[in-house]
Amino acid sequence: MHNKKINIAVDGFSSCGKSTIAKGLARELGYTYIDSGAMYRVVALHALRKGWLTETQINEEQLKKHISEMAITFRTNARGEQETYLNDENVEREIRTLEAANGASRVSTLPFVRHELVRQQQLMGKEKGVVMDGRDIGTVVFPDAELKLFLTATPEVRARRRYDEMKAKGDDPVFAEVLSNVEERDLRDTTRAESPLRKAEDALELDNSHIGIDEQLQWALEMYHKITANNEQN
Ligand code: DC
Repeated sequence: MHNKKINIAVDGFSSCGKSTIAKGLARELGYTYIDSGAMYRVVALHALRKGWLTETQINEEQLKKHISEMAITFRTNARGEQETYLNDENVEREIRTLEAANGASRVSTLPFVRHELVRQQQLMGKEKGVVMDGRDIGTVVFPDAELKLFLTATPEVRARRRYDEMKAKGDDPVFAEVLSNVEERDLRDTTRAESPLRKAEDALELDNSHIGIDEQLQWALEMYHKITANNEQN
């Protein structure tokens, strides 16, 4: 029998391998993958470009005024990879810089930014069949998601992954800086007043510090099958 589509929430700290597992699940199940962090990064990039976001300040008034003018979409390129667009411009590369990551962490503390992006994310999940990764997917965006995963790994392991990724891209990062960036973002993501990062009560937690990608995906698929089998019975 064909399973009814569900929504899957994948939350956790930064550089925890959320997107790898979320993309893997989407591929295996024929679901749509949505990277909610990319949306916060786009808002940050736009604000940085306009000068509304500087090292020391955020021009909330301007950002608020223009936030609805930012059309954020995802398109698949010729290699089958998903890329992020801002008003028809491919911004995939630019939103992956440390500057954009830090900016995203800062703009994501603003309630009006979260409110607008959550609204768009909920629309994207209306028809179900979505795997979305982020920080507040299981708690705020899809509190009714049938399957919620919460990934963790030690800061050192996450910084190492991020460092290797940057190296592979041809950057020349300093490990201590990458680590302190990870720790800084953890602190901000977990302590902000507006929907801080936390595990939903009904989320299944996995510490993947020492687990490979294949094994994680297998675990997630097992959880999916368990849940959908239960749903069929009820
Ligand atoms: O997952 P990421 O590193 O691309 O996310 C960038 C920033 O956006 C991160 O510091 C926290 C924020 N974010 C958020 O607050 N809520 C989400 N659902 C996703 C990301």
